[in-house]
Amino acid sequence: MSAEKQQHPMDLQEPDPTGNPSPAIAKLSIDGKTIDLPVVTGTEQEKGVDITKLRAQTGAVTIDPGFANTASCLSDITFLDGERGILRYRGVPIEELAEHATYTDTAYLLIHGNLAPQRELDQFSGRINQKVNLPAGLEKFYDCFPKGTHPMAMLSAMAAALSGSYPALLNPTPTREEIDEVIVTLLGQFPTLCAYGYRKGQGLSLIPPRQDLAGVASFLHMMNGRPGDQQDPNPVAVNALRKILILHADHEQNCSTSTVRLVGSSRANAFVSIASGVAALWGPLHGGANQAVIEMLEQIRADGGEFSKFIRMAKDKDSGFRMMGFGHRVYKNFDPRARILKASCDEVLGKLGIHDPLLDLAKQLEAAALKDDYFVSRKLYPNVDFYSGIILRALGIPTEQFTVIFALGRLAGWLAHWKEMLESPGFRIGRPRQIYTGPTQRRFVRVAQRG
Ligand code: SDX
Repeated sequence: MSAEKQQHPMDLQEPDPTGNPSPAIAKLSIDGKTIDLPVVTGTEQEKGVDITKLRAQTGAVTIDPGFANTASCLSDITFLDGERGILRYRGVPIEELAEHATYTDTAYLLIHGNLAPQRELDQFSGRINQKVNLPAGLEKFYDCFPKGTHPMAMLSAMAAALSGSYPALLNPTPTREEIDEVIVTLLGQFPTLCAYGYRKGQGLSLIPPRQDLAGVASFLHMMNGRPGDQQDPNPVAVNALRKILILHADHEQNCSTSTVRLVGSSRANAFVSIASGVAALWGPLHGGANQAVIEMLEQIRADGGEFSKFIRMAKDKDSGFRMMGFGHRVYKNFDPRARILKASCDEVLGKLGIHDPLLDLAKQLEAAALKDDYFVSRKLYPNVDFYSGIILRALGIPTEQFTVIFALGRLAGWLAHWKEMLESPGFRIGRPRQIYTGPTQRRFVRVAQRG
């Protein structure tokens, strides 16, 4: 049962949901004119100045490169508090989901707004599991990728290519049934795309899904199994990956989720909206950081493990070096996901009997950075990417596949936001403005005459 169509403060006639008799007002003065701007208050008391009528009333727009001070939407899906290190999916703390939930539980919660009763969850899982096999012939696309193609390139291309197999799911104004169907289709097919891209990248044959496996176990079988293999994946690996996927499932309006919303706002279909989210996530400043962290730790180790030199480089703007896995646009405290993953590193490596010198190095680097005023004054703490790679290495997943695992987790959040955007009362195409700073009008002059 999906959450009822949202009402939002900006669309309410009566007082806003926090019970304020009348919404607060912000005043803005410009060019000798003062206007009242409504202030929207969210359920966690966050405040937003509603500037939807600013340009019409003043001719001016706001400027906010990187959108650090701009809310693109109102959303019921995820709340995070960067100062207090809080992350909740539909109000449920990430710590509880990481401890007790399955990824399917979490996907249902994010997408439909509530934890599913067992019967609905079984139906949801069943519909997803019926979709794990790719449409006939699509696997042949993998033979067209040149050797060495990055798995994220294959994932983005194949997610878009799925649209060719599901013409009935490309309706620009999808019904609720079409939205639900494309969501379970992508939740079913995406793990297969992720696994097939990995196998292709490793020069291995594709392992078809086993019908008796589901979720994370099915994915790990397609990644590491052998044709006809009836042995189930290691439960330690299944549990570790379950936790990683849940921790990566959503994070409000991050770069890739905002990309999915923006592409989807043109009423492009879900397949290409998700493909665009994969593309945005690939960047080393975003989801590509988990790969960059391991490469950084390996660089430090290869350099003799003396990390103080790298801390100095991270502080030197001219060095071009960044402490990957550190810092965050929102968290000015510990990323709660990093805390959980740090603990999980010790647990998983202990259970698998693995000692990874990169984990020791990561912990030393964290301890040193958190004593250094450069990091402390800028509130640069380890983020979700700092420890995740250590666990993925322990599971035998190659570094290049790390961001694909991030995408596999984030799929649920991308789909939840795509659905929420389409169903929001204030839905309109995203089209930011700009302030032009180029040449004012001038004549066309032929090149020969330019002197
Ligand atoms: C993810 O948005 C999300 O929610 C993302 C994510 C999600 O779940 O979707 O949480 C996942 O993308 C996590 C972030 C992974 N990226 C990295 O680990 C890359 C390294 N981190 C940085 O590049 C940076 O911290 C960002 C990109 C994460 C945040 O960039 P901001 O908010 O634009 O911060 P900034 O670049 O303006 O930095 C502010 C200051 C600057 O110094 P000053 O100009 O004030 O002197 O902090 C410095 C920066 O130079 N700084 C760093 C640093 N991160 C910021 N200095 C050294 N090393 C770093 N990692």
